[in-house]
Amino acid sequence: MFRFLSLVTLYIIFSGLNAFAQDASKGLIQPGAIWPDNKGNHVQAHGGGIIKIKDTYYWFGEYRAQDNDTSYRYVGCYSSKDLTHWTFRNKVINIQDPENLGYRWVLERPKVFYNAKTRKYVMYMHIDDARYKVARVGVAVCDRVDGDYQYVKSFRPLGYESRDIGQFVDDDGSAYLIFESRPSKGFYIARLTDDYMNVDKEVCFIHAPLEGGAVVHYKGLYYAIGSALTGWRPNPNKFATAKSLAGPWSEFKDIAPPETNTYSSQSTMILKVTGTKGTTAIFMGDIWKPKEQWDSRYLWMPLEIGDGKLKLPEPKPWSINLKTGQYKLAP
Ligand code: GAL
Repeated sequence: MFRFLSLVTLYIIFSGLNAFAQDASKGLIQPGAIWPDNKGNHVQAHGGGIIKIKDTYYWFGEYRAQDNDTSYRYVGCYSSKDLTHWTFRNKVINIQDPENLGYRWVLERPKVFYNAKTRKYVMYMHIDDARYKVARVGVAVCDRVDGDYQYVKSFRPLGYESRDIGQFVDDDGSAYLIFESRPSKGFYIARLTDDYMNVDKEVCFIHAPLEGGAVVHYKGLYYAIGSALTGWRPNPNKFATAKSLAGPWSEFKDIAPPETNTYSSQSTMILKVTGTKGTTAIFMGDIWKPKEQWDSRYLWMPLEIGDGKLKLPEPKPWSINLKTGQYKLAP
């Protein structure tokens, strides 16, 4: 009996390892699948964002591992040179209720900007209490991309309530915070100050009650994606376009067949990859599992985008060639 059980255990261990090996050797991004990091743990970077430093991408997001100390909140940082294989770097935020908001305080949707003038990495995050009544952004700063970020302060950007945040860096390097404001019934795109430590100026208010705001500048046109306000439940995410970030913005339209509820995901960012032969705009979404947050998945897919149109295709495994900027769907 014991020998039989140990054989079963060995089989389970080896088939598990094999699954990881397969992911790595195929070099595929698999929407909705467990995404193992270099140690075989599912990547914990939910509601995340990505920046590129030299030839390396850094993915930051909510670190919601099952064995987290529940009074702490963590931000995970992972690095990759191919957007497919991710190395765990650090829990770059590891803090306990800096604003005295109570045991169930909230830290969500962290986004990191690199400021070339100050050479500092500046993180914005949504800070709240358990009832989401505080509605502020928090700011933390670090000298290293994957170092221990120091929490600095929280505030309401331009005096407005702010819940889901997003980040956008334009082709000229200017940096913007996107934030949803319930009382205004819409979301703001606001420029950061020179040192990125504050929100400086409203560039645009988009009068559409959308969160999970994500923007990309693609072939001369701005595209904004947002999600309806349905909490953890997925909904049909929508997009609009504008010639200038300041608008006017077109009407919002579905990015995917509405009955799929964005293939059960919610937007967090659009990542643009430009290479020698083309540009791919990657939709980064979260497939939330509210009761098992640690097992929430990611839906990353190249968007079909151009000439004012945008479509999130049906999720399938795919790969990207960072040199050429082109993607391929798996056969
Ligand atoms: C969603 C939001 C998430 C989280 C959740 C809590 O609307 O996008 O980031 O705040 O609500 O219910």
